Amino acid sequence: MRLLTSVAAIAAAFILPAIAEAADTPVQMTLDASKPGPVIDRHIFGQFAEHLGSGIYGGIWVGKDSTIPNTRGIRNDVVAALKALKVPDVRWPGGCFADEYNWRRGVGPERKAAVNTNWGGVVEPNTFGTDEFMDFAQQIGTEAYVSVNVGSGTPQEAAEWVEYMTSSTDDAMGQERARNGHPEQYKVAILGLGNESWDCGGAMTPDFYVSEMKRYARFVHNYNPAQPMKRVAVGPNVADTSYTEAVMKAWQGHSWAWDIEGLSLHSYSTGGWPPHLPATGFDEKDYAILLNETLGMEKLVATHSAIMDKYDPEKKVALVVDEWGAWLQATPGTHEGFLVQQNSQRDAVLAALNINIFARHADRVRMANIAQMINVLQAMILTDKDKMLLTPTYHVFHMYVPFQDATFVPLAFDAGQYTTNGITLPRVDAVAAKDKAGKVWIAITNVDPKSPVTFSVAINGVKATKASGQTLSAPKIDSVNTFEQPNTVAPKAVSAKIANGKLSITVAPASVTVIGLE
Ligand code: AHR
Repeated sequence: MRLLTSVAAIAAAFILPAIAEAADTPVQMTLDASKPGPVIDRHIFGQFAEHLGSGIYGGIWVGKDSTIPNTRGIRNDVVAALKALKVPDVRWPGGCFADEYNWRRGVGPERKAAVNTNWGGVVEPNTFGTDEFMDFAQQIGTEAYVSVNVGSGTPQEAAEWVEYMTSSTDDAMGQERARNGHPEQYKVAILGLGNESWDCGGAMTPDFYVSEMKRYARFVHNYNPAQPMKRVAVGPNVADTSYTEAVMKAWQGHSWAWDIEGLSLHSYSTGGWPPHLPATGFDEKDYAILLNETLGMEKLVATHSAIMDKYDPEKKVALVVDEWGAWLQATPGTHEGFLVQQNSQRDAVLAALNINIFARHADRVRMANIAQMINVLQAMILTDKDKMLLTPTYHVFHMYVPFQDATFVPLAFDAGQYTTNGITLPRVDAVAAKDKAGKVWIAITNVDPKSPVTFSVAINGVKATKASGQTLSAPKIDSVNTFEQPNTVAPKAVSAKIANGKLSITVAPASVTVIGLE
């Protein structure tokens, strides 16, 4: 009886107040469209698809003979959903998987199975290999971000892989690709030079990695003139600056023989390692713990950017946050090595807060990849056989599409505070940008799960009479979409008034809203 009482009390605490409940004093914001900042590179909305759990098999690849509707083995429902996100790039094949990947086993008519030593020790059939990944990338209209094996491979293997993908059919590797059904040169827009070389990628010291990385940067060539290829070196593990220092120092003194265009940063929001925070059924304290940690991304980006500025004041090398997101307790009953977790309204807020941080650092953060795209960690999409659902995180990425390649517009405001269980967070967050057509967009996050917030935004430098867009709120902070109820958390149309140069809008507790000014 006692237990029942306390469960009921917790459940009651989860219920988010309705927007109609009176909001207190409006948050005053000032937008100034006459002072544009840097372009928010669309690549900060990148995705990551590793051979891990059902991220690839089941999530993307069902095979040509599947009863699930597919095009050359790739599921049509997933392709349609991802096309709508305008995914700028997909990082593949890993992750830790990449540093043991033997690309040769995944091309040609006879695939050679392997054991996925990183993720559950399951059989990796290699039926989804290079040609299938490139087909997938073309179907969703994205750029390929391929991570080569620096851990257990050699520069020559990596060089031949990129030659296979990018050379013309004058070249033996291009001829092999043509025999495998694809005479046209593929485009490799981004090349990852290893993954987490400080840990699963070979536990290398920073200096050892730099020596290895230079050989890959030197000898792995792109042969497709239609697509310049940017190289991303392994960089920091969260707050550890040793790789940042070593790689950037080496880069400052680099010769003609090698170069890089990006430095990777990995940082997950976990609430403590090993990941133990539940993905559903959590309370307000766990909501605040995870969001508090995720806001640490601001300091991480600032710290590593400052080191990069020291060696690269012209900001030629991008900071590439190519693994970020919530890493939570695995869904009970699932394989521990498959990193399956549900995705709640908390994840939606978390995604928006991170995107906002990347946008505010758009001069240096020019690429980011959330982990991971389908069925793994903070996913956009969950699948179960023929069923598919879109997560709250998917909806945030969809709502933010107008921010892709838009120009940052400064927005000044006092975020206020939201405090619970001794944890204080900014009560609200917001960013603004002007798209290529000249339309100004504002993205507003209400972090506070207890109260709606009214915003009053002075829109200097914008001629607009109304605003409309979408808002994502939920009945509870841990509301999720399920295969039975896929639309519990779904965006709704919203509009706002503009009068006397001020936009006014009230948003729900724990919500994300994106509006365009017309
Ligand atoms: O995204 C899951 C794993 O997290 C990746 O394989 C690895 O790079 C990181 O540790």
